[in-house]
This record gives sequence, structure tokens and C-alpha cells, in this order.
Amino acid sequence: LVPNYLFADVAKKTNAYIAAHPDKKVIKLGIGDVTLPLAPVVVEAMKKGAEDLAHKETFKGYPDYEGYEFLRQAISDYYKSFGVAVGADEIFVSDGAKSDCGNIGDIFSKDNIVLVTDPVYPVYVDSNIMAGREIVYATSNEANGFAALPDENVKADIIYLCSPNNPTGSAYNAEQLKAWVDYALKNDAIILYDSAYEAFITEDLPRSIFAIEGARKCAIEMCSLSKTAGFTGTRCGYTVIPKELERDGHNIYATWYRRQATKFNGVSWPVQCAAAAVFSEEGQKQIKENISYYQENARIIASALDELGIYYTGGKNSPYIWLKCPNNMGSWEFFDLLLNEANVVGTPGEGFGENGAGYFRLTSFGDRENTIEAVERIKKVLTNLSK
Ligand code: MLT
Repeated sequence: LVPNYLFADVAKKTNAYIAAHPDKKVIKLGIGDVTLPLAPVVVEAMKKGAEDLAHKETFKGYPDYEGYEFLRQAISDYYKSFGVAVGADEIFVSDGAKSDCGNIGDIFSKDNIVLVTDPVYPVYVDSNIMAGREIVYATSNEANGFAALPDENVKADIIYLCSPNNPTGSAYNAEQLKAWVDYALKNDAIILYDSAYEAFITEDLPRSIFAIEGARKCAIEMCSLSKTAGFTGTRCGYTVIPKELERDGHNIYATWYRRQATKFNGVSWPVQCAAAAVFSEEGQKQIKENISYYQENARIIASALDELGIYYTGGKNSPYIWLKCPNNMGSWEFFDLLLNEANVVGTPGEGFGENGAGYFRLTSFGDRENTIEAVERIKKVLTNLSK
């Protein structure tokens, strides 16, 4: 296990720089943390939920382990809006996709082989190292547009997929996802599908693994309101487990329910009220305005890279821009250059795995003014570099 969680490492280096240079305005485009406030309709629902707790008649204690029915129904209707059938009784409300991605390992035995695509969101790797599982890596690189596909010669039992991908911003099309589903069915494997960035899809691409035929027999999907609706601090996500999903005589829904009831007491009433408001008609309208704002930031960053002639993936269908470091620089070397010369913080690709070496990730979650300023500063540094 690497000594530090990637984003903790980046934060430590950034804070040390800021402490040594208090006069500098450092712009953070590192961790994918949102900057726009919660949508007004969401805040209203949260306030009302908090008020409910102040009165005997409306007070709530422990929530249902799988989340309140009204929220699960709202999530089910949301899936329906893009043509995917997921029952309210197949959904678990949680405190976020990161927790579920890490905790889901509790219901799988230690001897399962885990496959991740590399570069990879570190949580999939770190949590499985902590559990003592063997991990195999599928290479994402320039040749496959940073979207690895299955290799018939590799045997895996648990497969983590993230699309649109963190960190590379690439997004699988239906045919590519079908290849993974077919592989999982053939190998009796389970896909753990992280769809945290589905709301950023602009092209005609699957928004859920359950848009793919056969997925209900081999997949679990985790999603989050963090990036979709600004819940990084509020915390709420959901996991979908089809009722028919079984392995070795065990029903996976029932097994996860057992795990959650043992270790998790649910999401608070005000937060579940706020989450349900996200899925209301007005909520969807308001969060889409915020998503468009970040998408425009992504476009601004991507067009600067186009201008500079730098290779990148993402930026469309994704809030992340994954770029090749100029002049064959290493990821951390480029991190230091941008921090010192442009006072801009990004995330070194190397922190996401071997195939991330020489790459770098920028996020579009900053505010507009800062994003424009960061892009100008980066352009200046890179132009001087090529002189
Ligand atoms: C990231 O920057 O990769 C994300 O913010 C991490 C996360 O969602 O936990």
C-alpha cells in the first residue's frame, strides 16, 4: 500500500507551498471537488428536513437501512428517464460512491481476483490491497484512447469499471461495455460499475451499465450526487443491485443488505430529503445549470490544450481533462512546474497507476474566473517551455 492517499499527498504538497508563499494566489484544479453551491430547491428540502427533526410529530430516528422509499423511487424514476429499468427495491442509498466502492469488498471473499483498468481511481486499488486481494491491471493508454477492453487470457472475479472515467475522462460506448459484460458473464465475474460522472455525458453513450443486455446478471452500479448535484460535503450516493444477481448460491442484494444493516445506519433525514429534491423536475433543471457551468470550464481547458497541441482525453462527457505532460516530463515533475511557475494545482497521473506516468489530470470543478486564469497561466508556462 502506498504510504499516502493520492489526494492527501497532493493537498500536503500544496499546503506546504502556500505556507511558504503566502503572497501567491494558488488555483486548485486537483481533487475533483465542486465549487458551486447546492441548488436552491435542494437547500429548501434540506431545511425542511431539518425542521422536521425539531418537532415530535415529524421527528425521525434511524432511517431504513436501504434508504427511504420516496428517495429510492425518485432514483428509479431517474433511471427510467434515460430508458433504464431499475426497481426502487434494487437501490441502496448511501453516503457516497467512494464508501460503497471500498465497502462492497466486505461481501466478497479474499481469494477473488480483482481487475482494474490502469490509470485507476485509487480507492479501488487501495481498498482491495487493504483487504488482501490480488489485483490485475488492464492497460488504458493512448492506443486505446485510455479506455481498456477485456483480455480473454486474463482471469478476474471482480472488475471495477468507471465510465466516464476517473481519471482519464474517457467514456465507453455500448459496444465496449457489452464486451465487458460478455467477459464477466463468461468468467462468472461481477462488474462493479462506478457511474459517478454519468451526468456529464453529452454524446449518445450509455449512462448506466444496466443499459447493456446481460448486465443484470453480472453487475452492481454505484453512483453519487457529489459531482452531479454538489454533494461532495453533504454526502449521498446510491448503489443498484439487481434482484436476480447471484453467485455461488448467494443472492448479492440480500448479502449487501446484510452487510449494510450490520455496519451502516443510513443517511440522515435532511440529506435524503435534499437528495430526493435533486430528482424533482425543478431540481434536475437547477443541477443541469451547474453541470453546464463545469462543462464550459472543461471546454475552456480543452480548447487551450488544442491550441497548445497537447494530447488529452476527456473534457467532453467528463469533468476531467487527462493530458500528456509536455517535453516528456514526469507527472510529479510537471506538478512541481505548474505549482511553482503557474501556481496551479493539478493531479499527477502517476498517482493513478503505472500507465498514468507522464500524464496529468485537471478538473473543471473550479470557478469560472479561476479556471480562465489558471488556463492563461498554464499557457504562459508551456509557451516559455517550448522556447
Ligand atoms: C477525484 O478527484 O478523483 C475525486 O474527487 C475523488 C472522489 O470522488 O473521491
